Amino acid sequence: MKNLDKILNKEELLKEDILFLLQLREADKIEMLQKKAEEVRQIYFNDEIHLRGIIEFSNFCIRDCFYCGLRRSNKKVERFRMSKEEIMVTAKLIYDSDIKTIVLQSGEDLFYTKEDIAEIITEIKSQYDVAITLSLGERAFDEYDLWRECGADRYLLKHETANRNLYHQIHPYQDFTNRIAHLKYLKNIGFQIGSGNIIGLPNQTLEDIADDILLCNKLNVDMASFSPFIHADNTPFANVENCDMQLLLNTMAVARLVLKNAHIPATTALATLDEEGREKGILAGANVVMPSFTPTPYRGNYLIYKDKKCISENPKQCMPCLDLRLMSIGVKVSHSHGHSLKT
Ligand code: 5AD
Repeated sequence: MKNLDKILNKEELLKEDILFLLQLREADKIEMLQKKAEEVRQIYFNDEIHLRGIIEFSNFCIRDCFYCGLRRSNKKVERFRMSKEEIMVTAKLIYDSDIKTIVLQSGEDLFYTKEDIAEIITEIKSQYDVAITLSLGERAFDEYDLWRECGADRYLLKHETANRNLYHQIHPYQDFTNRIAHLKYLKNIGFQIGSGNIIGLPNQTLEDIADDILLCNKLNVDMASFSPFIHADNTPFANVENCDMQLLLNTMAVARLVLKNAHIPATTALATLDEEGREKGILAGANVVMPSFTPTPYRGNYLIYKDKKCISENPKQCMPCLDLRLMSIGVKVSHSHGHSLKT
């Protein structure tokens, strides 16, 4: 206990400290870790949770990631693309819900040209006072330049795993060094960047997870997402066991201690893994929730993993449910844009 207390009060955690904390399994020790993570969250964010409304506008993908249900080899997915008009109607729904960040996410789909995306950004920015986050995968640097010039604020591009060998095993034809180069470029041209990993991948070690947290710190990410692996049908990992919930919560709490004022979401994957996953994630230090506004029936086909939560609900029904859930754990929704606190 004394040792744990000492580690929890260190200004900077070393890799060995992180490994020690990730392995905690006794209830009283886990409680100490989570309390500390919550304390750090409160220092920077009080009891405010930022909402990001996400529009998953296309599930076409040129990539073939072993874990992902949307991989191009999965012929069982009914693919969809939303039109610009449909995207704008959904953006209005998010704005009308008093949410100040719109996340545009898709598979890596080159059908949408750099001009198409630029037009959507420009139109949203001209109509609504919101921040825009893009999550479109790896695109050309000049495309990032243009989108930034049009006013996009943030870019999410998870490194997925900091273990280079593992990265190459599960991402055919992709390159780890290149991925990191993209993140650095995005940061350089003024995007707030988000990275993060998936926890529970086959052959992934605790050391890999510690490295993921440290890499996020080194890249000075503005946001970091740690998602539990959940198997997806018709993928090479369809029979791999889902992520262990405690390992995920420990990771989130340690990430809060290391990354301090970075935004950390309680992901939809976490809500899928556990009925009260979002609440547990917030109690372990998360400060962001990303409700999906993807219209039905498309949302039923954006199945990155199995049994994804809230796919049949009408997006309008999600907000009251979310409000209640947040209230029940003593936090409230922020109405600011929720920009990065990093310098
Ligand atoms: N389980 C958990 N997260 C996944 N992602 C993709 N597939 C899975 C899965 N099976 C995550 C990746 C990606 C994000 C959009 O979804 O981290 O960056």
